[in-house]
Amino acid sequence: MNDPVASQGQGQGQLMRDERHDLPRYADELPKDFERFRKLLANYSGIPEDQVDDHVRAVREKAWSIHPYPCVGQWRFLDLSISQHPLYPKVLSMLTSDDDKKLLDMGCCFAQDLRSLAADGVPSENLYGADLRLEFLDLGYDLFRDKGKIKAHFYEGDALALPGSEAEGGLKELNGQFDIVHAASFLHLFSWEDQVTAACRLVSFFKPDAKEAVIFGRQIGTLKPGKYQRRNDPNGSRFAHDLNTFQQLWDGVGEKTGTKWKLEGELRTAPKWRGEGEVSGDTKLMIFQVIKTH
Ligand SMILES: C[S@@+](CC[C@H](N)C(=O)[O-])C[C@H]1O[C@@H](n2cnc3c(N)ncnc32)[C@H](O)[C@@H]1O
Repeated sequence: MNDPVASQGQGQGQLMRDERHDLPRYADELPKDFERFRKLLANYSGIPEDQVDDHVRAVREKAWSIHPYPCVGQWRFLDLSISQHPLYPKVLSMLTSDDDKKLLDMGCCFAQDLRSLAADGVPSENLYGADLRLEFLDLGYDLFRDKGKIKAHFYEGDALALPGSEAEGGLKELNGQFDIVHAASFLHLFSWEDQVTAACRLVSFFKPDAKEAVIFGRQIGTLKPGKYQRRNDPNGSRFAHDLNTFQQLWDGVGEKTGTKWKLEGELRTAPKWRGEGEVSGDTKLMIFQVIKTH
């Protein structure tokens, strides 16, 4: 595959396109409304305002050539979704008032949400990010120009891999360490069975004595829960939830892990994702927190 960035000159407009750029989940134009992210790049990363657009485009192109996730193609990472979550003020207060509290962002991609927490005052050494692809974690350093500055810890590993297997990678070091797990646009990638596997893995990351254990984030929701074909894999499926089926999933995870989890959440009108279509009236944005009750 071409590396579009390698063949890109300075600035915009010289992008070498390939077939991936014609996918509906790729939006050419930068959104107009990414002020919070702009401020983060200006204030946290020290990137001059007039260089922000070109910088974001260049990093996004590299990520798109690695894997064409909608969160990359449709610029969803620019939302800094963690900062818009109703639980964010509480999470911030937990992490800034107690040095022993740690947060893991699972499937963090560029880990933009960890940079949001760090910029808002959380000691970065208490922030952890994990992803299947090391390249995304490295691109996070490029995007935020904070290699050697941020003290957050990053791990490559497959959340679906058997514990103890090679594919599990660095995830094995994360067992039993966390108070809070953020998992945005992550579980919705998988079939029901794989969501159970991934969610059980999330449970294993909590400290055994975590008092207010919670998993929170946003993901695609739907009024018509069920199996949907994966867009980039005709043989694969993903399960899209409403609040009832998501609670059922967590009931099953609880049974498997000897724990109990209560879902609080809402289905909001889905934003018109940048790029073409994909959002029917049944598609919603699920904002959730899953709280350990036992
Ligand atoms: C759609 S992106 C969401 C990124 C980010 N959380 C956000 O909200 O912008 C999903 C991320 O999950 C990662 N991922 C997919 N499958 C995974 C797996 N089995 N184990 C760990 N990470 C995975 C991908 O590499 C990607 O970075």
